[in-house]
Amino acid sequence: MKFDTPAGTNPIDRLKVVGKATDRIDGPFKTTGTAPYANDWHDPQAKLAYGVVVGATIAKGRIASMDLGAAKAAPGVVAIVTADNAGKLGKGKLNTAKLLGGPEIEHYHQAVAVVVAETFEQARAAAALVKVKYTATEGAFDLASVKDGAKDPGDVQGSPSSSSVGDFAGAFASAPVKLDESYETPDHAHAMMEPHASVASWDGDKVTVWTSNQMIAWGTRDLALTLDVPQEKVRMVSPFIGGGFGGKLFLRSEALLAALGARAAGRAVKVALTRPQMFNNTTHRPATLQRIRIGATPDGKITAIGHESWSGDLPEGGPEAAVLQTRLLYAAPNRMTALRLVVLDLPEGNAMRAPGEAPGLMALEVAMDEMAEKLGIDPVRFREINDTQVDPEKPERAFSQRSLVACLRQGAERFGWDKRGKPGQVRDGRWLVGMGMASAFRNNMVLKSAARVRLDGKGMVIVETDMTDIGNGSYTIIGQTAAEMMGVTLDKVIVRLGDSDFPVSSGSGGQFGANSSTSGVYAACMKLREAVAGKLGFNSADAVFEDGQVRSGNRNVPLAQAATGGDIVAEDAIEFGDLDKTHQQSTFGGHFVEVGVDVATAEIRVRRMLAVCASGRILNPKSARSQVIGGMTMGVGAALMEELAVDTKRGYFVNHDLAGYEVPVHADIPHQEVIFLDEVDPMSSPMKAKGVGELGICGVGAAVANAVYNATGLRVRDYPITLDKLL
Ligand code: MOS
Repeated sequence: MKFDTPAGTNPIDRLKVVGKATDRIDGPFKTTGTAPYANDWHDPQAKLAYGVVVGATIAKGRIASMDLGAAKAAPGVVAIVTADNAGKLGKGKLNTAKLLGGPEIEHYHQAVAVVVAETFEQARAAAALVKVKYTATEGAFDLASVKDGAKDPGDVQGSPSSSSVGDFAGAFASAPVKLDESYETPDHAHAMMEPHASVASWDGDKVTVWTSNQMIAWGTRDLALTLDVPQEKVRMVSPFIGGGFGGKLFLRSEALLAALGARAAGRAVKVALTRPQMFNNTTHRPATLQRIRIGATPDGKITAIGHESWSGDLPEGGPEAAVLQTRLLYAAPNRMTALRLVVLDLPEGNAMRAPGEAPGLMALEVAMDEMAEKLGIDPVRFREINDTQVDPEKPERAFSQRSLVACLRQGAERFGWDKRGKPGQVRDGRWLVGMGMASAFRNNMVLKSAARVRLDGKGMVIVETDMTDIGNGSYTIIGQTAAEMMGVTLDKVIVRLGDSDFPVSSGSGGQFGANSSTSGVYAACMKLREAVAGKLGFNSADAVFEDGQVRSGNRNVPLAQAATGGDIVAEDAIEFGDLDKTHQQSTFGGHFVEVGVDVATAEIRVRRMLAVCASGRILNPKSARSQVIGGMTMGVGAALMEELAVDTKRGYFVNHDLAGYEVPVHADIPHQEVIFLDEVDPMSSPMKAKGVGELGICGVGAAVANAVYNATGLRVRDYPITLDKLL
């Protein structure tokens, strides 16, 4: 089904199942420990062996020699795979560094071997006996010191790396009120709960990999490319994922090494990265240095806005796209943005938790707060004054929907924004108390997505798609969609996900998954409705699917009756036309935060948070709220705690575990509220929904930073805002 005209009234609009706060249908599997996560797969028939990854202990250079003698002779060892004996390997389209390194080493903890043994303990012991001698070469590890060598990275995510409208330099120079400030965000780790894990098993020339991956079709393709086998020889299964955050968008080393280990061992092999390996072996969000210049008239109209960002990555890598939101968020006649990239020999940078906007807004929305203060205008009002209903760089393109101002107004009222005091002036016992706010912005991407639906003789509707559930509720909203479309209750729907044998979905990433994948299910159900109506002798145009019945005129037939002669199966994909190109599709919100800062120790505590979100139709308010409060929590992490510490001499992230890489815990997040504006976006999809998960994180960091400023009168422009920076 091609979606190329705005959605009219359709069966989803009945909202009997869709749009209702609904518990996750996969919840009981998780709470009873019966959901098979990647590392749980074990087939007693398959005589599983265990692989342990050996990571490089230099950041850049070559393997001079490798001595496998002691490891091979260790008890239980079945096979050792290195680049020397792995056979010809290709590279996945979406991998920057090789997943099995050697002789060249591209980054610290790049895998150089997998040791396979009868038990995990034997594999781990033998892996410690692998002796590697390296010839290290000089690398670049310190972003600030190599920033001046930055290059134009070319197109980034389909957009040019630079943009320019009007005369930014001239308008900024002559602006009556000006801000020119620099901001720093550090490297971040996904640090999701479930480390990367895979079990691989070969059957002849075909390999099956049970894994933990957000994008089954990308993973299958890249594993086939890397193994240099046809894609139909690779099956990937990933029904449950313990968090991805972007770290599982792409094929990673453990899946490749499980496949190579299994081939070498002639039996199924399980490989899991250890927590300390994840931080340097896999990907991370690159650090940024950002410069923002804003010029405005005394009454608060922005006349010039400029945003530049520098980040680093391995050769052939890309920049953190931290300026893209600045092209769309506020009106101004004179504008410039630029992304600059330097080569760093740190581990591969890639997408993490709202890549681009999350760190970009951590700078932009603090700059907006600083500018509002210079102007003596309330920060909410300053954003209202500079709202736009069209793409400020291409005014002929309107937003499909843009409710930023409504979110900010409702948020301000709900939060009690009018009670905000002057910086450093509000006390509650030992606490200096402050409020901060920021706009939230994240684009709404849509991706082609397919599904297969089956009606059986018992009236059950079975949905199959390779869509993944990364812990966010995909099973449930897909079930809700099929139930609504077929006129049945949710308990009559079975949802099967995360298997490359199923039709190719959008996958989970970039907050495109919910809207795109349910639209694919919508398309498949439209076909199934036609087939059912045909079977029952109804005209599909006026058949009503409701309460487990199909009705037309005064005839009323149980849905199951259509399948008495055999299951009815329909498959289709939603393909998006140009609506997202003719109209800018984005999601909007307002984040409001109150913090307390201990007047003696500068300990910073978040006291309460509010998000107001405008994201089109909310398919399941319960799981959507969970997504947003998760994003808000990540935003607090980015503002106050999360930072990969770079060893700028040896070139690796030092704090590679959850003791050293700090994330918020329950005690850090006392109170969160989420409000969804009641809106639908017919330009976005037949579901009239948009992404919402990543909107939850976008802007939060700045709202926290602005609240810390309001509490203390101290402006910190280098994240995370730890108490030492206030003392
Ligand atoms: Mo998200 S960082 O696109 O998984």
